[in-house]
Amino acid sequence: MIRVHCPDAAATRAVGRRLAGLLRPGDVVLLAGDLGAGKTVFAGGIGDGLGVEDPVVSPTFVLVRHYRGLMPMTHADIYRLGSSAELEDLDLPAESADGVLVVEWGDAASQAFADDHLMVRFAVHPDGTRTLEFTGTGSWTGRPLQEVAG
Ligand SMILES: Nc1ncnc2c1ncn2[C@@H]1O[C@H](COP(=O)(O)OP(=O)(O)OP(=O)(O)O)[C@@H](O)[C@H]1O
Ligand SMILES: [Mg+2]
Repeated sequence: MIRVHCPDAAATRAVGRRLAGLLRPGDVVLLAGDLGAGKTVFAGGIGDGLGVEDPVVSPTFVLVRHYRGLMPMTHADIYRLGSSAELEDLDLPAESADGVLVVEWGDAASQAFADDHLMVRFAVHPDGTRTLEFTGTGSWTGRPLQEVAG
């Protein structure tokens, strides 16, 4: 497990950008953390690293947004989903098979995603800084995750 301290939003974004360099088509990145913890900021950094030109904005109300970059990026926010049936209807893994899938609140439904995924947990400290904790399963065990720390 890798922990990275992020003093501000720019730092969180930079960590996302570095993570993008480790991503492969079919990857699933689950983001876990409270409201406002920085999940969307981090997803924006992944978009930067994947060369996505459109601004990565919160998919809170639309649930899913698709971006074009070096590989396709699908960004979902499942906070408002009422049931696992709704999640199945979205069929996120199929929609993003040839690209990267980034899911905010993904921890709430991690069993719905591939066993092979990266979990990123966001902790917010009293001083407003964040710590990001990376835990990879499956193919992630062989990847140089420490590179996200810069
Ligand atoms: N170290 C930090 N990392 C990330 N964001 C930070 C940090 N410090 C302050 N912020 C601010 O916190 C906010 C994080 O918002 P963001 O939308 O990324 O959170 P979120 O986890 O996606 O929330 P939600 O659960 O509502 O989708 C931004 O306004 C950002 O500028
Ligand atoms: Mg968000």
